[in-house]
Amino acid sequence: MEPTREAATCLLELRDVSRSFGGVEVLTPIDLKIARGEFVSIVGPSGCGKSTLMNIVAGLVEPTSGRVMLEGRDITGRSGHVGYMFQKDLLIPWRTVLGNITFGAALKGRVSKGQLVEAAEMARHYGLSAFLDNYPHTLSGGMRQRVALMRTLALGRPIMLLDEPFGALDAQTRVQLQQWLLAVWAEMQGTILFITHDIEEAVFLSDRVLVMSRRPAAIAAEIRVDLERPRGVVVTTSEEFIAYKRQAMEILYSHRGLYEEVTDPAFATLGPAS
Ligand SMILES: Nc1ncnc2c1ncn2[C@@H]1O[C@H](COP(=O)(O)OP(=O)(O)O)[C@@H](O)[C@H]1O
Ligand SMILES: [Mg+2]
Repeated sequence: MEPTREAATCLLELRDVSRSFGGVEVLTPIDLKIARGEFVSIVGPSGCGKSTLMNIVAGLVEPTSGRVMLEGRDITGRSGHVGYMFQKDLLIPWRTVLGNITFGAALKGRVSKGQLVEAAEMARHYGLSAFLDNYPHTLSGGMRQRVALMRTLALGRPIMLLDEPFGALDAQTRVQLQQWLLAVWAEMQGTILFITHDIEEAVFLSDRVLVMSRRPAAIAAEIRVDLERPRGVVVTTSEEFIAYKRQAMEILYSHRGLYEEVTDPAFATLGPAS
């Protein structure tokens, strides 16, 4: 069948995708479209179903209902079509940086000389040249995450799914990695679906921020971020940026009474000191 015109601009589409585990609804039916070249983030409370949503897009979890379409083709329940960096994505300790980056190719058979040269070139281009022969245990946390991202990028898929890739990093390393990721994304003209629980990170990186509600989760709001690119960290102190952040925080926290009254409800639940 000929792909429709819409499919040419819309890279990934979720149609009515829901998921229950043991009769408990985790995701209510979700509709979502991501255009080629977009950077879209999902923020939401812990346990709301963000990773489940990514697993569905990656074809690792079957949705209870709905379809996942990539470039106009139905990929529901089929893995291998998207690049996916898991929430706890570990490097393989006995492979070097280059060995880790080419791991995807290695799974399919022997890695050719050409593939090795290509992967090394890519890694050098994105600033990893000094570390190609290192083993993961010799790398800093930030560098390990760069390598894991490179490994995902090396798969050459039309979209990358990144599940809280910077969650465990200290604040300064995290900012460096965010800048680096934006540079990589701009250069490769890729498409990224990014999960984070950090609103500031989502606004800083994205064209669009999707705010998920608590379980059973739905997309409660969509915030289009019209901040100029390239973005430096200085933008995070601008009024515009803070307005976007406030908008997302209001949606995330208001229904739990946490947005304005931070202290009372939080301490009230603790009860008297014993
Ligand atoms: N395979 C599974 N079996 C049963 N429950 C699951 C399974 N995977 C996820 N869940 C439940 O679904 C909910 C959402 O999980 P998850 O997608 O990991 O949330 P998030 O990534 O937003 O923190 C959680 O309550 C989790 O316990
Ligand atoms: Mg998760």
